[in-house]
Amino acid sequence: MDDQQFRQLLNCFALSWDGYRKVRKGVKKRVRRHMQQLGCRTMQAYLSALNQNKEARQHCEYLLTVSISRFFRVQDFWQALENKILPTIIKENRHRVKVWSAGCACGEEVYSLKILWDMLGGRFQRLPELEIWATDMNPAYLNKARTGIYPRSSLKEIPEALRKIYFRPQAKGRFYAVCDPLKKQVVWRVHNLFFDPPGRDFQLVFLRNSLLTYYQDELKEPAFQKVLDSLAQGGFLIIGSHEKIPPGARGLLLFGHHPYIFQKEA
Ligand SMILES: C[S@@+](CC[C@H](N)C(=O)[O-])C[C@H]1O[C@@H](n2cnc3c(N)ncnc32)[C@H](O)[C@@H]1O
Repeated sequence: MDDQQFRQLLNCFALSWDGYRKVRKGVKKRVRRHMQQLGCRTMQAYLSALNQNKEARQHCEYLLTVSISRFFRVQDFWQALENKILPTIIKENRHRVKVWSAGCACGEEVYSLKILWDMLGGRFQRLPELEIWATDMNPAYLNKARTGIYPRSSLKEIPEALRKIYFRPQAKGRFYAVCDPLKKQVVWRVHNLFFDPPGRDFQLVFLRNSLLTYYQDELKEPAFQKVLDSLAQGGFLIIGSHEKIPPGARGLLLFGHHPYIFQKEA
């Protein structure tokens, strides 16, 4: 499959070439295998099979998702979260804090937050109840997230002292399992960002490296608006460090000097 044929496939799902350029090798490999399984020798034949077969189309859509993530991805952000954002949210929401991790992949971002939250327990007399909605369109990723077992490479940004507290080594240290208490109070749900959010009034929404990276512009704006609507007034929205919010988006203020942290206007 050459790049032109791959672009044809991306276009069929309104996915963006820019988002896939760096990861296309691995994605193409998965798609090629699917083409073979369906007996399609050309992209034309594959596209027409996807048009006629809903299940095959759905499977292809899953194959096109990219789950690359790791614990505490972008250290600067997690420091801002620990030192500024979470303390602000906690002071203003004494009873309950609602968080949505949209496009959570295999849960690395969610468990990173749970670790920070647990650590904040030592700084605050009493923490509010934490309710996390962790959603992704790919159910296979959510199953991995529920299991909570990760290759060592996903943990490379976690200091050893923390790794010892929150993870158990498996298979001679090639994999690590998150400890059971971190798994509590997380609702893992299949959800597509083009549909209504799983809740409202979230104080914190993670929308990192999903909608804004992998989709073509015309799809981004309406889905982004739905995400904005789910934020509480004064709530925080986090996007990927290389992403930009759609030009039509209103009602967001940049938070501090981080170009990927926003606060919804009160
Ligand atoms: C690269 S991972 C990002 C994981 C994590 N947010 C991070 O930044 O480390 C992108 C995730 O977005 C999910 N995704 C892509 N399109 C989606 C959609 N329309 N609805 C929900 N999830 C989607 C993919 O399945 C994948 O798990």
